[in-house]
Amino acid sequence: MMKSHVWRPLYAVIGIVALILIARVFVVPEGFGVHERGYMYGWYNKADEGFWKKVTVKYKSSDYCKDCHSDKYSSIMQTPHAIIQCENCHGPAMDHPENPARLSIDKSREQCLRCHSRLPYPTSDRAKIRGIDPDKHNPGIECVACHNPHKPSLEGLK
Ligand code: HEC
Ligand code: HEC
Ligand code: HEC
Ligand code: HEC
Repeated sequence: MMKSHVWRPLYAVIGIVALILIARVFVVPEGFGVHERGYMYGWYNKADEGFWKKVTVKYKSSDYCKDCHSDKYSSIMQTPHAIIQCENCHGPAMDHPENPARLSIDKSREQCLRCHSRLPYPTSDRAKIRGIDPDKHNPGIECVACHNPHKPSLEGLK
């Protein structure tokens, strides 16, 4: 038989843990948790307005550009590039247009080759994007000298 000087502290500990678990139900707000898979934000309270006011959204999506750059928006939406976001090429619009110069205009071949260099061993859907061999396809000349990135159809060649 174990002595009561062993049991008593053990009961006390179990009692305290139980109290904490019960108190937690009342003290911790319902919206508190991690919520997202992958711990994007860490622990937060869904209902805490102050927290959400401080969150800055890095990417705004093409809809955001629609009103101010309606010409670019409507031309690209008629083309195969409609399915890629403006910010995929121009970078995050977090503090744009407050600071227009911050959005990059990258005319390099590398910018386009991210998606258009032909994959020798196609293993994913990326390989379905029309590819060219950068060593053979007009090397040394910027792609945008011939292709309009906002009107990339072959009929739209400059
Ligand atoms: C509230 C209006 C507004 C919105 C929304 C907006 N822009 Fe702009 N943008 C401007 C203004 C103003 C300029 C500077 C004048 C100009 O070049 O037309 C500019 C300039 C630019 C430039 C040229 C920068 C340079 O260095 O010359 C790019 C690229 C651009 N915007 C892309 C975008 C993209 C992509 C989006 C959407 C994610 C977007 N803009 C959303 C107003 C806006
Ligand atoms: C495939 C990459 C790509 C996508 C997607 C793209 N752009 Fe561009 N954009 C460029 C490049 C490259 C230039 C520079 C073209 C040049 O000078 O020949 C440019 C230039 C611009 C400019 C400034 C120069 C000008 O021609 O007036 C604006 C503004 C702009 N883009 C807005 C947008 C908006 C808005 C969208 C989405 C609706 C968008 N872009 C989607 C690559 C892209
Ligand atoms: C000197 C002008 C010129 C330059 C520079 C150029 N292209 Fe082209 N591109 C063409 C012409 C013309 C065609 C259509 C005939 C052909 O397929 O060669 C074409 C076709 C394409 C096609 C369609 C291929 C297919 O199988 O349907 C893609 C994709 C392409 N180019 C991407 C690019 C990329 C990416 C760059 C830069 C790394 C680039 N081009 C540079 C003129 C050019
Ligand atoms: C984020 C990926 C991505 C980037 C970056 C990108 N493209 Fe595309 N592009 C696509 C997709 C997706 C299509 C549509 C599928 C296809 O036609 O292969 C396409 C189609 C094209 C076509 C074929 C259009 C047709 O009607 O046959 C050309 C030409 C082209 N892009 C040129 C460019 C040029 C030039 C750049 C760089 C300024 C560029 N792309 C950057 C994804 C991209």
